[in-house]
Amino acid sequence: MKVLYCVSEAVPFVKTGGLADVAGALPAALAHLGHDVRLVLPRYRSISTEGLAPLFPLRITLGDATVEGAVLEGRSPAGIPIYFIECPRLFDRGGLYGEGGRDYADNLARFAFFSQAVVAIAAQAFPPDLIHCNDWHTGLVPAYLRLRERARQQGAWPALYTVHNIALQGSFPAEQFPLLGLPRDYLAPEGLEFWGQVNCMKAGLVYADLINTVSATYAREIQTAEFGAGLEGVLVARHRDLYGVLNGVDYTQWDPRVDAYLPARYDPEDLDGKRLCKRALQKEAGLEVLPYAPLLAMVSRLTDQKGCDLVAAVLPALVERGVQFALLGTGDPRYHALFAHLARDHPRHVFIALRFDEALAHRIEAGADIFLMPSRFEPSGLNQLYSMRYGTVPVVRRTGGLADSVTEATPGTLRDGVATGFVFDAYSPLAFLATVDRALDAFRDPVVWRRMQLAGMRADFSWDRSAQRYAALYREAVGRRVGGLAAGSP
Ligand code: ADP
Ligand code: GLC
Repeated sequence: MKVLYCVSEAVPFVKTGGLADVAGALPAALAHLGHDVRLVLPRYRSISTEGLAPLFPLRITLGDATVEGAVLEGRSPAGIPIYFIECPRLFDRGGLYGEGGRDYADNLARFAFFSQAVVAIAAQAFPPDLIHCNDWHTGLVPAYLRLRERARQQGAWPALYTVHNIALQGSFPAEQFPLLGLPRDYLAPEGLEFWGQVNCMKAGLVYADLINTVSATYAREIQTAEFGAGLEGVLVARHRDLYGVLNGVDYTQWDPRVDAYLPARYDPEDLDGKRLCKRALQKEAGLEVLPYAPLLAMVSRLTDQKGCDLVAAVLPALVERGVQFALLGTGDPRYHALFAHLARDHPRHVFIALRFDEALAHRIEAGADIFLMPSRFEPSGLNQLYSMRYGTVPVVRRTGGLADSVTEATPGTLRDGVATGFVFDAYSPLAFLATVDRALDAFRDPVVWRRMQLAGMRADFSWDRSAQRYAALYREAVGRRVGGLAAGSP
């Protein structure tokens, strides 16, 4: 199958979160299964043009303006062909989506340009069997495809739209709608209009042939008012076309056996390296080097999604229990201030790094004992999967992909040796603290702890299985077109 995979970030080029990890790994896993997958990515300033070859020029209409750009061709280290969308006016900037905590004012123009460029590549360079879109940045692609179909233009390829986070919708004032060059009737409740705004996520949900999200539980959750961020009605209407496929792990990047960022490597047969990693992390973080002090950690975007308020609320109580805590994250300035404050109050126990640091993220996964992920919602989550691989037992809230990937420690699962973590339900400091306490009790029992570590380290979340499920969704979407079945809504 020939697949054009369009996305706004991908490792090793640019990353702000898990989306980039997925876009770096899933195409390679699909290629491994024999599919011809090619990536489309904006050429941001931080991506060097060295080694990229110009393929064809772009002239894209945005409202009254014609914006020029180009498609550059390159390859990922894994050998995946990549089309970079060059447009200095829109992408030659310091950030991906914004700077200094503020989104760029012209984000709709930027990603409308990008989405039209994706369609241009399909039309002029690589006619695919299917276009795979991801999150709001590429939600307009299915809308442009639908337009081609209406105009009976050749090449109206089917689209799969993957929701990585329903909370980030790419919503813009309706006055910007003319930028898109779409007929007026697209700006309607049956189309991409949402509460009087242009909503790019909704465009993807309405116009794609098939939709999926990144775990089975999240696929159910987003059909409810609590998790749907207003779009639950749209998702319920399309529930027959909505699937859940859990993310995988790229074990060439995230495995303590091979991780080049670590001061020592280890595997389930020999955890000595993990002890060295813990000691090195304690030193690096300025914490006391105490092998038996439980070291709790978090690596996360600091947003409301991630349960930062719960962590901040229980931290003083944990410090009283003699626990050490290391956090790496960036995000909401409110949380920066809150955690900086906690670090000042408890310098011997709390280490806070408010920056993006790939290497430190790996060293924390390896050096910590317990990983905290008390998310309010979590479409899939990757860090709990990484933690398990590193023998760092996760404490998670029962939601989304966390519920689908962590096996709760109960007398039964502990006895069977399949428990991999600790899970709580109510979004409250009390419930969270009680569960961390259960984890600390288990930590003090070396036999129980080792069993849980090993169960996590041996669990298999490799991409192969998920890639096969994506391939099945591609076939389903293509098959429906061939079968002549009308797809989706209008
Ligand atoms: P999300 O995509 O919602 O942020 P995931 O758990 O899917 O959550 O993925 C987060 C990814 O981003 C992980 O690879 C994690 O290590 C990484 N990450 C998050 N914050 C930082 C940071 N400050 N420094 C380095 N890596 C980070
Ligand atoms: C989003 C979600 C996260 C998921 C990632 C990749 O950022 O918040 O749960 O793992 O996308 O799909």
